[in-house]
Amino acid sequence: MSDQVKGDAPYAVELGGEKIVLFRDGQGTLRALEDRCPHRRVPLSMGRMTPEGNLQCGYHGWTFSGASGELVGIPNLSEGERVLPCTIERFEIVERNAVVYGWAGDTENADESQIATLNYVPAVKTFCGRQKLVIEHGEFVAALLDAPDLLIKITGLMFDPRVAMDPFIDNDQVITERNVRWNWLGEAAFYLGPLRSNPDCPLLLRVHTVPVTGHSHLQIVAIDGTILVDVMLICTPASRGITDVHWQAGVADSATGKAATVLRGLAAAGFSPFGMRKSVVGQALADTLPTLSDAWREASLARNHSRPQNADNVSTLNSRR
Ligand code: FES
Repeated sequence: MSDQVKGDAPYAVELGGEKIVLFRDGQGTLRALEDRCPHRRVPLSMGRMTPEGNLQCGYHGWTFSGASGELVGIPNLSEGERVLPCTIERFEIVERNAVVYGWAGDTENADESQIATLNYVPAVKTFCGRQKLVIEHGEFVAALLDAPDLLIKITGLMFDPRVAMDPFIDNDQVITERNVRWNWLGEAAFYLGPLRSNPDCPLLLRVHTVPVTGHSHLQIVAIDGTILVDVMLICTPASRGITDVHWQAGVADSATGKAATVLRGLAAAGFSPFGMRKSVVGQALADTLPTLSDAWREASLARNHSRPQNADNVSTLNSRR
């Protein structure tokens, strides 16, 4: 997520097997360089930012420009010695909807139009998180749509098993809606069956999901259409059936009413309105029937059959921290 790359420190990630260091230069522009110092191969992500916004290796202080990848400084040079011409690899990246996207292939074929546009507007105060879950990527997206309470939690709310409408496709995204109701009892109610049949569902969980990648924009929508909680959730396949999830969430700036006041108060105290569960309950996952996920699988199949070959190179950056 964009917010995870601050201006004061480099951030190590991986993309298509490449070790990359992300950082923000003096103007706040996000930069991506290979994460290896050409001097003694030390990861540049272990270095620091200079006051000018360049990246300095933590070992002997060689300093690189993010804009060009050029070596721009070596401390301890004697008078009259010049910095040798040296350039390290630079990567094409773009920030969109609070997410950093990178291009793993030939940059001449880089095509931003292949990045789906999720209409996420970060709130003034947002929270970020990351969770690795032992669940295959496709199963993760399916569970997010069919049984979200297996994966995520939103303060004060409980997801209802009933869907609010049939899924549909809009702007190349799968839109689903599920009933949600208040539950200030917290986690305990997750295990109390009778409470789950309460028919009072004054809210909706609306999810915009991109085919194939499963990147999703989640919104808690009140009965009058106002957005209460906004979440951007990026899930990427990691190794051996593990899904790497990055998220950013906040109470929508437009949210009004008592619930919004309570959630904002909690956010001001440092409590995120959104969180991920630490693990997936296998039996509950096995018992889950597909209700909404079929629409996403069908859209993904259709997308795979229609998109150009080089689209496979679009990927979010997987952090290795
Ligand atoms: S290893 Fe980076 S400056 Fe020496």
